[in-house]
Amino acid sequence: MGKFVVTGGNKLEGELRVHGAKNAVLPILAATILNNNTSIIHDCPNIKDVDTMVTILERLGCKVKKDKNTLIIDSSQADQVKVPEELVREMRSSIILLGSILGRHGEVIISYPGGCSIGHRPIDLHLKALRQLGVQIEEKQGYIYCKASKIKGDEITLDFPSVGATENIMLAAVFGKGNTVIYNPAKEPEIVDLQNFLNSMGASIRGAGTNKIVINGIKELYSTEYNVIPDRIVAGTYLMAAAITGSEITLTNVEKDHMYSVLSKLREMGCELRYGGRRIKISAPEQINPVDVIRTQTYPGFPTDMQAQTMAVLTVSSGTSVITEHIFESRYKHAEELIRMGANIQLEGRTAIIKGVNNLFGTEVIAKDLRGGASLVLAGLKADGVTTVLDSIHVERGYEDIARDLSQLGADIHFYS
Ligand code: EPZ
Repeated sequence: MGKFVVTGGNKLEGELRVHGAKNAVLPILAATILNNNTSIIHDCPNIKDVDTMVTILERLGCKVKKDKNTLIIDSSQADQVKVPEELVREMRSSIILLGSILGRHGEVIISYPGGCSIGHRPIDLHLKALRQLGVQIEEKQGYIYCKASKIKGDEITLDFPSVGATENIMLAAVFGKGNTVIYNPAKEPEIVDLQNFLNSMGASIRGAGTNKIVINGIKELYSTEYNVIPDRIVAGTYLMAAAITGSEITLTNVEKDHMYSVLSKLREMGCELRYGGRRIKISAPEQINPVDVIRTQTYPGFPTDMQAQTMAVLTVSSGTSVITEHIFESRYKHAEELIRMGANIQLEGRTAIIKGVNNLFGTEVIAKDLRGGASLVLAGLKADGVTTVLDSIHVERGYEDIARDLSQLGADIHFYS
């Protein structure tokens, strides 16, 4: 397992381009199975999760070519319907292939995705919705067997606006008979990107980003070329890097409309933000203010994927802040590692009380999950001395090269594989 070695104390400066969104490109890659043709996708981040998804697509019969951040997928020979267990275990979000393989072939066999360190991650909402679309589903020996002679359009109301369930319904219903309506869908920008990608192949979907998505079933899809949206969580992470180090940096290739809830908290911390086109310039104070309460919510509320990084910044604020995590049941594993660095954090169930301290000190810490690992890197930027973040593999899943990016801004950080 690799590690990051960070020597704290450097100010950051300069400009950095944000790469394409992991959580947009993964469902879009799954969707390439549907057009039985070629898809050219630009601005794919070079991250472990994309590598895993490409491996799965190849196992399903796709031909994939990679040219820097462009992927060319030919799904005309993608005739396999079984997603192997070892690959689903490696990346639980491969469950998104359920909808696309089902949409293309009318059947799919996929291993039950396990939980992960942030929570149990059930898929009951996915399966309930697919059953409503006429899919026969059998769960045995750790696999899910799905069959549907024809997906029949229906009106589905999600009990919870699950991102994955919304995506699986959209993918399964593209060739469905008649219309499928999703009430209470997830409204994340990545859902809108999936809709736009599918429509670029000839699908007929509208309403993504609102409380109602309508999918008109069509007969076939065509080849396409598409640019993935910027990663709002990677952008948020780098803005938090400026906040914790009292720096001024500029990010390019960002969509501020995807980040209002994070930007408003940065302003509450005392950061100055200026916008122009797809650029954000942040100027952070020497010491940030505390934030009364941050509640993680579904989009457009404060994103759970920014909770850990924000907690790291708040550990050195001038007062006491409160975070409540409402999306995942165990997404505070980074807190104990931050406490090892001298942070003052009290956990009470889903609530974290963070009392600002004057300084953190470098030590050896362990990344337990993707965003928790990123939060430890951020804390290392500020800590006195050297911080070693072990098990960097977690961070490599969602950040193209966080050491390269932060070094480019002036941080003293090295990656050792
Ligand atoms: C997506 O996961 C993202 N992953 C996650 O990002 C993100 O944290 C999450 O959405 C919430 O925004 C990808 O897009 C690849 P959910 P997903 O279904 O689809 C419960 C990151 O760091 N639930 O919206 O799995 C579930 O237990 C990752 O980039 C059910 O109860 O999220 C959780 O508490 C981490 N039953 C909540 O909903 C279901 O059938 C949110 O899950 C499905 C979900």
